Amino acid sequence: MYGKRILLGISGGIAAYKIAYLIRLLKNQGAEVKCVMTPSASDFISPLVVSTLSENPVAIEFWNKDSGLWTNHVELALWADLYIIAPATANTIAKMASGICDNLLLACYYSSKSKTIIAPAMDLDMYQHPTFKRNLNQLISDAVLVIPATNGSLASGLEGEGRMEEPENILRFIQINFPFSAKELSSKKKILITAGPSYEAIDPVRFIGNHSSGKMGFALAEICLAKAWEVTLICGPTNLDLAHPNLNIIPVFSAEDMLLAVQENWKNADIGIFSAAVSDYRPEKFETQKIKKTEKTINLQLIKNPDIISWASENRGAKQFVVGFALETNNALEFALNKLDSKKMDMIVLNSMEDKEAGFKKETNKITILDKKKGKYSFPAKSKREVASDIIDTIFKLM
Ligand SMILES: Cc1cc2nc3c(=O)[nH]c(=O)nc-3n(C[C@H](O)[C@H](O)[C@H](O)COP(=O)(O)O)c2cc1C
Repeated sequence: MYGKRILLGISGGIAAYKIAYLIRLLKNQGAEVKCVMTPSASDFISPLVVSTLSENPVAIEFWNKDSGLWTNHVELALWADLYIIAPATANTIAKMASGICDNLLLACYYSSKSKTIIAPAMDLDMYQHPTFKRNLNQLISDAVLVIPATNGSLASGLEGEGRMEEPENILRFIQINFPFSAKELSSKKKILITAGPSYEAIDPVRFIGNHSSGKMGFALAEICLAKAWEVTLICGPTNLDLAHPNLNIIPVFSAEDMLLAVQENWKNADIGIFSAAVSDYRPEKFETQKIKKTEKTINLQLIKNPDIISWASENRGAKQFVVGFALETNNALEFALNKLDSKKMDMIVLNSMEDKEAGFKKETNKITILDKKKGKYSFPAKSKREVASDIIDTIFKLM
């Protein structure tokens, strides 16, 4: 990062105390750092600390009442190769999402031509609030990169998701995602992700389905989008939504629809992450009229669905990487290894129903990753976003 110009925006959250250390880390990497703070941020960290560590004046006000001079936010924004806002409060994120410009940090955001990265930090209920999520999604669709908050103890005394990512990891994220780094440009990937359940129609109103919510696949898509990768997300019926300029979302219903969408898009992808919970079987016959409740019992004859992962493995180019998922109720490791082998995957992510933190509709997940060279990587229970990040990091290492 030698010589790179980083504009660091600090808003008024308790995690601002960690920013002194982030400035230190950035400076140690050889970056030039200038800071802009919201007026509220100076209640959480002294501008003197920020200016001393960054070795630059700190910009807080639009103009100085004593000298009458104004701070040129346009110049400051255009100076930067990268704008990182950490911590990003719910308030600042809401303003960024809706175009409010009532402080210098925001004025820099609207004037900036560089990439903007935000590291949200707030209490757990704020982080889960639908309004906050809506604002965050708006920023993601405006191509802002997000460093997701992590799980842990919060200043309120509560435990959960909302902690700002640690400065070391923010630095790592910047290094991986720095928009001007040759590494980033050469490692730009196209990802195909399948997510959610498949529904297999019995008659016009009924289907066979499963409890998959699609959360894992959507979290994977968000992490990939945050890396400025291109994502094709093929998803069965879910309540989730995501919008981004680099996202092509293809809604499907049945396993056969999903296979068709995969067949159309697979050749353009570098990596296929097949996280959808696809029904193994479907009714052999689709009744065109609703089945009436006249018989005491009825039999549904089921036939096997196509195996989407096996199709992708058999029809891949030399450099395409195939990742599957296994959700097992018993003998999890053994079944996952068999699946990895028989479907010729590069890597499989195992969730075991034996773990109470893992499974359908849960907010957390606990995974073990197995690779085709018999490598085994176990992770503790984490939020699905953090798990998604671990999965993407592991894919990258194995590739
Ligand atoms: C002790 C304390 C801690 C706070 N921590 C946070 C926080 O972590 N995240 C957040 O979004 N807001 C937090 N707030 C609320 C913000 O400070 C408040 O919304 C403020 O208006 C943010 O202004 P800014 O976004 O312009 O910096 C906190 C408030 C107090 C009093």
